[in-house]
Amino acid sequence: MQAIYKVAVIGGGAMGQGIVSLNARQGIPVVVKEINKELAQKALKKVHKKFDSWVAKGKMLADNAEDRKMLVQSTSDFDDLTDVDLIIEAVFETMDVKKKIFKELDTILPEHVIFATNTSALSITEMATATNRPGKVAGLHFFNPATFMPLVEIISGEKTSKETIDLLEDFAKNSLGKVPIRVKECPGFLVNRLLMPYLNEAILLLSETTLPLEKIEEEVARFGWPMGPYTLLDFLGIDVAAEVTKIFEEGYGDRAEAPPLMEIMIKSGRFGQKAGAGFFVVDETKGFKPLSEILEKEFPGRKDMPVEEGFRRMMLGLVNEAFLCLEENISTAEDIETGCKYGIGFPATLEGPLHWAESEGLAKILEDLKRFEKTYGPRFKPAKNLEEYVKTGQKIFKEETW
Ligand code: 3HC
Repeated sequence: MQAIYKVAVIGGGAMGQGIVSLNARQGIPVVVKEINKELAQKALKKVHKKFDSWVAKGKMLADNAEDRKMLVQSTSDFDDLTDVDLIIEAVFETMDVKKKIFKELDTILPEHVIFATNTSALSITEMATATNRPGKVAGLHFFNPATFMPLVEIISGEKTSKETIDLLEDFAKNSLGKVPIRVKECPGFLVNRLLMPYLNEAILLLSETTLPLEKIEEEVARFGWPMGPYTLLDFLGIDVAAEVTKIFEEGYGDRAEAPPLMEIMIKSGRFGQKAGAGFFVVDETKGFKPLSEILEKEFPGRKDMPVEEGFRRMMLGLVNEAFLCLEENISTAEDIETGCKYGIGFPATLEGPLHWAESEGLAKILEDLKRFEKTYGPRFKPAKNLEEYVKTGQKIFKEETW
């Protein structure tokens, strides 16, 4: 099998920095490419800071960190990438920009170089059309923080070769120490697709009900999720989530419609942690108002709702999407569980959304989805295969025998 000795990461934003730090930590020489020298230097400094933080936390010895830092180069020039074996594109989610980068790199990089993209939701097949190596183009999707979350989704486009997927899987597992899963291309791939209805529902709960966000976060923590939905959105960036939501709307239509509050957050510059305001984070010294004021002004007439009902709406959106992904062969049932556990921290003791649904009783899940569909609309329309499982009494996972 072809080997990957050196990697280039295109884009030194938060995700790019994480991917660069991860590669260097694993002993892989890596070069980060930014659009100008200043940004390239900034990205390099941030990566050095990450290593310093590992030393400070006792996760790495100081000498070791200095050695690893030496593996990282930064540049603003595509010509400095000609000795790499793999590029990982991690720029913002605009198809035209990504295609332009792939097109330019295709003309200067040797034939064997694999072109991977860390896109959250855009089509790999379309991106590959910008190159003369569609067999060597694939998705390599990391989860934030990339240095910590174990999952990597390996996504094949229509023309991606089996060798490319095998190579990326081997690299993710054996060189980066990650847990790879294979995913068939669809808007949002697997894990973001499951996260979408869950987060959208959490945002809708704020504009439709008087449930305080703290109470919803408490309920989510009680279930065992590592972060509440609003903390997660502030952390990921609401602008990033909005970009992904747009791709979902294009791909899945009405049932993936962006919640109206999301647009208000974007228009008022509340992009989350990095902007000083989001759902939870509110820096009033920067002129941001508490979220409650916005909700009162923009969404009068919100109704009471028990927090259990609100949380069930979020969970059943996610579970129904998991059944849809299973029905469309996006991933295997095992990979759906692995993806949720290692990509978004689904409580490990519950195994994953499909096991959780079985433990709740599929008939009860179906009944609640039908009730939600009647009350809240077609986004809760149950997946056909869920109805089949209930009708036939068939199990998703074979029972273990001792
Ligand atoms: N900002 C940046 N990094 C943070 C952070 C923050 N607010 N909080 C924690 N981290 C980083 C730490 O620096 C540390 O990184 P390191 O391993 O490189 O040193 C790592 O997270 C673990 O931190 P802690 O040891 O303090 O661990 P915690 O137990 O507090 O866990 C968490 C923090 C890992 C962020 C945990 O809360 C979690 O798992 N949250 C869910 C995160 C998640 O769901 N991510 C996936 C989102 S979807 C996605 O990324 C897809 C994309 O396409 C949109």
